[in-house]
Amino acid sequence: MSFNERTYIMVKPDGVQRGLVGKIIARFEERGFKLIALKLVQATEEHLEKHYADLKGKPFFPGLVKYMASGPVVGMVWQGLDAVKTGRAMLGATNPLASVPGTIRGDYALSVGRNICHGSDAVESAEKEIALWFPEGVAQYTQAQESWIFS
Ligand code: TYD
Repeated sequence: MSFNERTYIMVKPDGVQRGLVGKIIARFEERGFKLIALKLVQATEEHLEKHYADLKGKPFFPGLVKYMASGPVVGMVWQGLDAVKTGRAMLGATNPLASVPGTIRGDYALSVGRNICHGSDAVESAEKEIALWFPEGVAQYTQAQESWIFS
């Protein structure tokens, strides 16, 4: 259990174009997570191939990279208790067909190829993704600044 676990959450181009950035940020804020980095960026295909390196070779990989490069994305780092697992639960299943209503994908998405948002699937991948998207670093908070939410 880590109070300072970090996860990389990204609103994909369809989520940005549909104006869902604010709603997705609000869900993470309301759940109690702390925003420690945020940027809107037009990613290159080369950068996205690094982000999705584990999926290279999958039949959907070329289409995935093209879609992710088709417009700006909003990358964020959220910190808090069990941020990785909780973030994944908030996103919902990869295929919106299986995403439960109440989750981001379950409320806003219909198709696996346009599923609105990304969330790290493990602590190690979160750290890799944070380094890839935020090489300049993220904000740090002191324990005293955390006391309003954790005891
Ligand atoms: P994956 O890492 O398996 O899922 P998640 O985003 O939930 O961690 O896949 C990455 C993205 O690839 C996924 O969000 C949507 C896309 N994708 C497809 O387009 N078709 C597919 O069959 C799968 C499994 C994923």
